[in-house]
Amino acid sequence: MKRLGRASHSALITTLVLAGVGSLFAALSNSEAQTTPAQAPAPFNRPNPYARKPVDPALAEQGKSLYSVRCAFCHGSDARGGESGPNLLRSETVLTDQSGELIGPIILHGRPQQGMPAFDLSEVQISQIAAFLHSIPVSGNERGRNAPIKIPLGDAVAGEKAFAEKCASCHSPTGNLKGIGQKITDPRALQQSWLMPGMRGGAPSVVAPAKRVTVSTTGGKVNGKLLRIDDFIVSLKTDDGEVRTFERTGNVPKVEVLDPLDGHIRLLPTYTDQSIHDITAYLVTIK
Ligand code: HEC
Ligand code: HEC
Repeated sequence: MKRLGRASHSALITTLVLAGVGSLFAALSNSEAQTTPAQAPAPFNRPNPYARKPVDPALAEQGKSLYSVRCAFCHGSDARGGESGPNLLRSETVLTDQSGELIGPIILHGRPQQGMPAFDLSEVQISQIAAFLHSIPVSGNERGRNAPIKIPLGDAVAGEKAFAEKCASCHSPTGNLKGIGQKITDPRALQQSWLMPGMRGGAPSVVAPAKRVTVSTTGGKVNGKLLRIDDFIVSLKTDDGEVRTFERTGNVPKVEVLDPLDGHIRLLPTYTDQSIHDITAYLVTIK
């Protein structure tokens, strides 16, 4: 086995040397489609729903840039799973999807209960994302697994305007975001950090801030960090460090939960690719 491997390896090297550098590149980029003699022949007459679909590379390339700003921070830049989203390459839905007909409804409606927001994308954009997902090799050597997705930087002036509209109610470049462009120097990590704080796929992560809760009792309002909530009790820790637990029956007492990242989740569907790149370009300038 070992000897055979070495023999075919040196045969391969000889072929490559003879074939020259140009066709070496061609061979590498086509290797997905080629069958090496060692592989079993593909079953020809039974269509395999999981077989890689033929993908238009231009479509996939457009899908990659959509995916990288809207989906990557949850599902990972290579779709093999991220901090909060599952691996999409092993997903039954993605594997059986042909060109977006199964992935589309999930993108459009999200899975809000499970933490996936809905996205307002067009049919064309969905087919681009589907083409990108279908273009990723599912198995094999995971070549390119760590190849970073390049973040094109947009126009910082347009970004500053978008920031004033979308972000200034909670952030300021001289206040809580002072120095952000120096703190996170990798544009991709910077982009992840503001698209969805606390899910910086790969880069050092900020811890997502805890949810807060306000309980309105007959004696007044009690506010603090949410520790636990179910149909029967709610517990919180006040800013003085005191743990309080309240029994609940129906809507009594009144309980309001606030997720500090609600603002970010609500903004997600409002970005265009361009505004995302513009805002990142602006953040880079915040020293
Ligand atoms: C904020 C995080 C988040 C973002 C952003 C996000 N997802 Fe998801 N996604 C999830 C989670 C969590 C699930 C698992 C839901 C469940 O358990 O049913 C999921 C499920 C899915 C599924 C179904 C997988 C299956 O097998 O059931 C698909 C397909 C999917 N996401 C695609 C996308 C695409 C495409 C995008 C970008 C347009 C995207 N997601 C953006 C978190 C996210
Ligand atoms: C409704 C309020 C709200 C809005 C609107 C909002 N954010 Fe945030 N943002 C937060 C909260 C809360 C955090 C969590 C970090 C914290 O607790 O300081 C956060 C975190 C961040 C972080 C991470 C900070 C770090 O140190 O890593 C960045 C960057 C950021 N936001 C940028 C933006 C940008 C850019 C926009 C507009 C496109 C925006 N935010 C809109 C509330 C908001």
